[in-house]
Amino acid sequence: MSNEGVVRAGVEVLADVEALADAAAERVTQHLTAAIQARGQAVVVLAGGSTPRPTYERLAGEGFSSRIPWPCVHVVWGDERCVPPDDAESNYRMARTAWLDRVPIPPANVHRIHGEDDPAVAASAYEAMLRDLVRAAGPPDLVVLGLGEDGHTASVFPGSAAARERTRWVMPEYQGATATWRVTLTPVVINTTAEVLFLVSGAHKAEILKRVLEGPRRPDDLPAQAIAPSGGRVDWLVDRAAAAGLERP
Ligand code: 6PG
Repeated sequence: MSNEGVVRAGVEVLADVEALADAAAERVTQHLTAAIQARGQAVVVLAGGSTPRPTYERLAGEGFSSRIPWPCVHVVWGDERCVPPDDAESNYRMARTAWLDRVPIPPANVHRIHGEDDPAVAASAYEAMLRDLVRAAGPPDLVVLGLGEDGHTASVFPGSAAARERTRWVMPEYQGATATWRVTLTPVVINTTAEVLFLVSGAHKAEILKRVLEGPRRPDDLPAQAIAPSGGRVDWLVDRAAAAGLERP
């Protein structure tokens, strides 16, 4: 394993957030359709936060939605804030309003994390669901992730138990910075995927993106560096503002 940043990462720099969303929507569509052609179904893990929203909105549009056989797609979340599903902070609500309510995906294929429940109960239930889904549909074909300014991804925060976890697939995590509970997939299950697609946008992410991609490898402090699928790829779609500090875009 290289001692510099994330290994086997492809980095594509797009002009701006709109171009990033166009490219990301195309990548997601290609991965889902390829998985469905290869094995009849696809499992995609969605990122929360704000960056993915324009991508999800494009995926609901004609140029993409009509290309995807929706009954073959299963949607899972990489993490959720511990709030009700209709809360403005909910990652499920964001993806539902931007994308999933606007495409003919069977409701049974939309597997939300129950943020309204006790975090430990919700994490345990989600892990059981996810293990059943993987047994039936195979490991995730695509995991979409964001990057926090502290190097977190999903809700795997620096120094957290989730960052050090070697067995569990889903854990409750407390985010001190926001004094909120989250439920998150751990790198253990994320690293079973065939493809990770990080979406990173904005000048405020330039410093952390440089540390993650070009700095020393310290995955406990920079959990995004723990994302290294043994049998898959890690690709980064970043806009020019976020890539400003990179030596080797
Ligand atoms: C969340 C996300 C989190 C996010 C990063 C980046 O629940 O907030 O899963 O990991 O991807 O914090 O967030 P932005 O896209 O809002 O910058």
